Amino acid sequence: MSDSPSLPAQIDALRAEIDAATLTTPEEAEAFRVRFLGRKAGAITALFGQIGTVPPEARRETGQALNALRQSAEARLQDAERALAQTASAEATDLDLTLPGRVPAPTEPGSLHPLTQTLEAIQDIFAQFGFTVARGPEIEDDWHNFTALNFPANHPARDMQDTFFLEEPPPAGRGVVLRTHTSPVQVRVMEEAVKSGGGPPIRVIAPGRVFRNEAVSFKSYFMFHQVEGLVIDEGVSFADLKAVLFAFARAFFGGEPKMRFRPSFFPFTEPSAEVDVWWEDANLPGGGRWLEILGCGMVDPNVLSAVGIDPERYTGYAFGMGVERMAQIRYDVDDIRLYYENDLRFLSQF
Ligand code: PHE
Repeated sequence: MSDSPSLPAQIDALRAEIDAATLTTPEEAEAFRVRFLGRKAGAITALFGQIGTVPPEARRETGQALNALRQSAEARLQDAERALAQTASAEATDLDLTLPGRVPAPTEPGSLHPLTQTLEAIQDIFAQFGFTVARGPEIEDDWHNFTALNFPANHPARDMQDTFFLEEPPPAGRGVVLRTHTSPVQVRVMEEAVKSGGGPPIRVIAPGRVFRNEAVSFKSYFMFHQVEGLVIDEGVSFADLKAVLFAFARAFFGGEPKMRFRPSFFPFTEPSAEVDVWWEDANLPGGGRWLEILGCGMVDPNVLSAVGIDPERYTGYAFGMGVERMAQIRYDVDDIRLYYENDLRFLSQF
């Protein structure tokens, strides 16, 4: 008995062993449990059995040291088991934290819609001519869309067949419509100018969406885009209108485009014309055909009177250009539906 180390020395030795133990696998953890905490052959249990060899006055202190030793062994074992359980559950979910983050496939650069590009080209040219941009609502009332523009009460455009009415036409209702053209913006701009005391000169373009109750086909859609133009001043003539439209066509199409004015009729212009541009297409007999791109004319004196501008003093011209038509010539796309299908195979070409 006397040649075995004292109990405190054995406690110190076990503490050093416990502190040095590695517990990184389930096997190591189990071996640790058996070695130190096993109920029958555990080293700490064995030391408790030797407490009787300690002198009575040192027993209390030795017992406390043994308890502390057991608690620290239990704590190490608990920590190890918790860590091992976490690793096991991470492996069970196949979570690999070393994988690169999930990112979308490399994004291809986008581009503006061909109609937007066309519209911007049109706006840029008119900006150089000194036109500013005006806008109006897509939901219009009867006054701005029809009446102030000199449409007679029984005009066919007011027919439910051509116009999307949101409210019955007068006298039954207020005749709220999806605007059928951008010409109501003319009325709004002139009214605003008169109201603000500025009056003419006026020189604006008004781009925007318009709506008509048309069957969808390669050449018509229930919605399309126009760019309205309006110039009001003293001494404005049809020659000014022609000069501006020719200059515009040269800038937009480049070179010397073939263009013709055909006499036409609109309730709000007098005289009126429609303008065609020659669209080259080798597949067509004759090598191409005339495409109508806009309606225009001198602002009817009745329209000036309706908004409170003196038609004796001021004259002006107006035009309404089809943006899809301009895009068709610019890009050689002759099916209007392609612009609205959002097919990337089409859109990515622009
Ligand atoms: N608003 C007419 C249309 O949509 C076009 C136009 C505008 C004609 C301005 C003359 C003057 O057909």
